[in-house]
Amino acid sequence: MSKVTVVGAGAVGATCADDIAQKELCNEVVLVDIKENFAEGKALDIWQMSPINGFDTRVKGSTNDYSLTANSDVVVITSGLPRKPGMSRDDLISTNAAIVKSVTEQVIQHSPNAIIIVVSNPLDVMTYQAYLSAKLPSTKVFGMAGILDTARYRAFLAEALHCSPKDISAMILGGHGDTMVPLPRYTTVSGIPVTELIDEATLNAIIERTKVGGGEIVKLLGTSAWYAPGTAAAQMVEAILRDQKRIFPVCAWLQGEYQLKDIYLGVPVVLGKNGIEKIIELQLNDAEKELLNTSAKAVREVMSVLDSMIATA
Ligand code: 2OP
Repeated sequence: MSKVTVVGAGAVGATCADDIAQKELCNEVVLVDIKENFAEGKALDIWQMSPINGFDTRVKGSTNDYSLTANSDVVVITSGLPRKPGMSRDDLISTNAAIVKSVTEQVIQHSPNAIIIVVSNPLDVMTYQAYLSAKLPSTKVFGMAGILDTARYRAFLAEALHCSPKDISAMILGGHGDTMVPLPRYTTVSGIPVTELIDEATLNAIIERTKVGGGEIVKLLGTSAWYAPGTAAAQMVEAILRDQKRIFPVCAWLQGEYQLKDIYLGVPVVLGKNGIEKIIELQLNDAEKELLNTSAKAVREVMSVLDSMIATA
């Protein structure tokens, strides 16, 4: 019997729960939300798709009753406010930190052995908040951003190259913000280095578009994205529950890797049944290292805002 909880039944959480159920990644998905009857309604609607699309995963909803989430194997935290136009992800810190703290504490009370995937923004720092609150090993608390950011990069490349996005393999390091570091040297199309297929100016334009890919959607919709973020989180759940040992960029706690310490940042990891089973250290050149350090600096600034909020609380 495997069980996944998705906290936050907003658009990202519901999309994630939907994808998990459609792919039958576990026996049961519990969707939790603070808003009265909201998770119950979304869960019921998803569950009523089961005869149509043919899946067995039972989907249930709960208004803030975490006893229903007991013994979850994986918990995805999507709670918090999304961005509005003109806001950066960092503008959400104080509101979302309090929410992520309270959610994590309640999750852990009922599922002390769960693996936690954070999706709330500002992503790297909310993952840090969940780590502080969960008091679990860092291999079991990490964030979803890299799969989403690389998906945007891959989708833009597929469009420019008139090829299938499935054939594009790529890596993005760093924080989930405008300082993220797409790596052309680690981008291939069916094994062919992308630089052999695209001119530098087009590639650079795609990299710049990727960095602000979340903001592009916020401008279009007036709120942040959900289909790709929710599905990206579900892909991490799949790698864990099916023990796939997939290599993804994940927001992970670094302890000296990339010469960075005590920071949550996007790096390639092996994801399997134990959570992060390995952090992969790429041999970066000087320019790439400098971009990663700049991104780390931006994340640290927001982390220190959180640290000072905790110190004065
Ligand atoms: C995004 O990049 C919501 O942060 C998320 O769309």
